[in-house]
Parts: sequence; structure tokens; C-alpha cells
Amino acid sequence: DKGGWSSFMAKEVSEEPEAVANTLRGRSHDGVVTIPELEGLDDLFAGINRVIIVACGTASYAGMTAKYAFEQWTRIPVEVELAHEFRYRDPVIGPSTLVVSISQSGETMDTLMAVKFAREGGAKTVSICNTQGATIPRESDAIVYTHAGPEVAVASTKAFVAQITALYLLALHVSQVRGSQSKLAIADALRELEAIPAKISQILEREQAHIEQFAGWMADTRSVLFLGRHVGYPIALEGALKLKEISYIHAEGFAAGELKHGPIALIEPGQPVFVIVPSPRESAEMHKKVVSSIQEIRARGARVIVVAEEGDAAVLPYADEVLRIPLAGRLYEPLLAVVPLHIFAMGLATAKGLDVDQPRNLAKSVTVE
Ligand code: BG6
Repeated sequence: DKGGWSSFMAKEVSEEPEAVANTLRGRSHDGVVTIPELEGLDDLFAGINRVIIVACGTASYAGMTAKYAFEQWTRIPVEVELAHEFRYRDPVIGPSTLVVSISQSGETMDTLMAVKFAREGGAKTVSICNTQGATIPRESDAIVYTHAGPEVAVASTKAFVAQITALYLLALHVSQVRGSQSKLAIADALRELEAIPAKISQILEREQAHIEQFAGWMADTRSVLFLGRHVGYPIALEGALKLKEISYIHAEGFAAGELKHGPIALIEPGQPVFVIVPSPRESAEMHKKVVSSIQEIRARGARVIVVAEEGDAAVLPYADEVLRIPLAGRLYEPLLAVVPLHIFAMGLATAKGLDVDQPRNLAKSVTVE
């Protein structure tokens, strides 16, 4: 039931705040992480020295996003790999490797095979999943469910923000078990996470109409590029994937720092480029670098659409459109920055008259390898 929305995707984007809030609910108390599903597993988390995150599609970008927080908080090296690539090489894994799988459906065959392969190799496995009782969690040593609610639209939206949230909780849990973060730092991180749902709601209230309007003007666009740095990089990839999936427009995401090593050759007058701008408060240096990337593409005629925090005036002289997100710590920005990109993809596909819920050639859950 679409509940009065024009599509399941529209409904599910509107549910992004609840997806985060419900995934957090009941999993912390007084600044301490308390994940009932992970009780009794302290030895498992104490005994690992490497984390490999495996997933496909949007879920893999949630993994790429969480890598930054996971490493920062736990000081355990984290790799992120597409499940089908991981499975068919000869990865170095063993009892001190933790393989974290991410899957909305819990049925993606590529991801399931990667988990089975990891277990056969002696690794420990944790599954991040949105579907109770699905196959992948059944094959794993532990499960942290995302509580995004059923996701019907093929292109994943609310599950994505819930996956990042669950991965952050898992990372905080692991740092708590291993003592790699102070109690204060963990309490602060939980506070930041708890503030996210209201901030996403703010974006939906303040920016949705604006984004849908200019997405409509862009219905004839043939290609869109997305640039981001640090945690903004996987968000650029996710923005591009969503656009490909539902609007059939060629889209690519790049690490902003890679611009001069290749992608800048693509910039010609009128080329739309989304740029995820990191907060100048959180990292003045990174902010400056991204603004200088914007200047470089703008000088070559790019049509620049920035996603930037409220009050960041440095981007104004070089931006054709400015999409504002509320202030948040650097690791939490992706949970906000992705929202305008989800709205944009949906707005553009709708303007083209496409079925946003059932894009051609795609299935919600791919149960073949
Ligand atoms: C694809 C879906 O086939 O599978 C994507 O079209 C999804 O939307 C990907 O991100 C992974 O699915 P799951 O269920 O494993 O998260």
C-alpha cells in the first residue's frame, strides 16, 4: 500500500527519518551501546584483527561509507569488497577475520555465496539485514537487523540510511567491547546518530520541492557526474547508481581528488555535476580542496549543483544550484547528503514519465549468481 504516495519510492524516501530512528531504537541506553542480538559475542569481537565488508549495489556503498567510522572508532583495518568479487578470488581470511555482509533482502545470491565462502574459510560473519528470517542472516554467526520496514521499490533508499546506521552501531559496539573509544566518545556518537532523523526530516521539508523542480528541468540531460571526497565519495557513487537505475541516464560518481587524474576530461559546457561538499567546520582543508575542484569544473563550463551544509557561503559564487543539509559531524554527513540525491533521481525519473518503482531490467532481489 502506497499510503497516498505516488510511488513506493516516494513513500520510502519519506520514511528515511523513521528508518534511522527505528534502527537506533532499543540499542543504546545512557550513552552505552546495548545491542541485544550481539550479547554474549564479546570474545568474537575481541578476537578479530581485520574486517571485510561484502555486499552488492547500494548496500556496498553503505559499506564503503561505514568503513571510515569503523576504522576511526575501532582502529581495525576495514576493506569493502563487492560480494561477487570477494567470492571468486583467493582472499586471505581466517578466524581473526570478521566478514560483515549487508543485504536489504537477505537473499542476494552473490552476497550469500560470499558469506558461505567466508565461513568455510574460518572467518566470523555478521549480517546486516532488513528482512527477518532471511537466508543470509541464517548463515551468519550474528545479525544486526536494520528496522527500515519493508522496502518495495527496486531502488533502495530507506534501507541504505538504515544500513549505515546499523553499521555505525556495530562499529560502536565493537569499540566498546575492545575499549578502543572512551565512554564519552561513544555517548557523543550516539547523540549525533539520534539527531539524524530530525535532520533528514528537515531536508525533506525544506528541499524536496526545490529539488523536484530542477530535476524536472533536467529531464533531457544525457549524463550527470557526481563528485565527493572522504565519506562524500561513496555518496557520489550512490547518487550516480540511483540515477542510472531509475532514470536510465548515464551517471558516474568519482572521488573529487581523482578529477585531475582523468574525469576532468569529461567536463564540457553544460555538463551537470553534483558535488558533495564537506563541512568547513569539520575539515577546513578538505572543504578547501573540494571548493577548488568546483572552481576547476566551473571554469570549464560545468553546471554545478552542490550539496553543502547550511551557512557554507564559500560555494555560492560557483554553484548553479545549492542544496542545503543541516550541520552534522563529518561521519554523519553522508546520512544527510544522500537524501537530496535520492529525491533528485526520483524527481528526474518521474519527470521523464518512468515507473520509478519498477525500473526496466532490474529486480529487487537477485537470487541467482
Ligand atoms: C540489486 C537491487 O539487484 O541488489 C539494488 O536492484 C540492491 O537495489 C542490490 O542494492 C543489493 O540487494 P540487497 O537486497 O542484497 O541489499
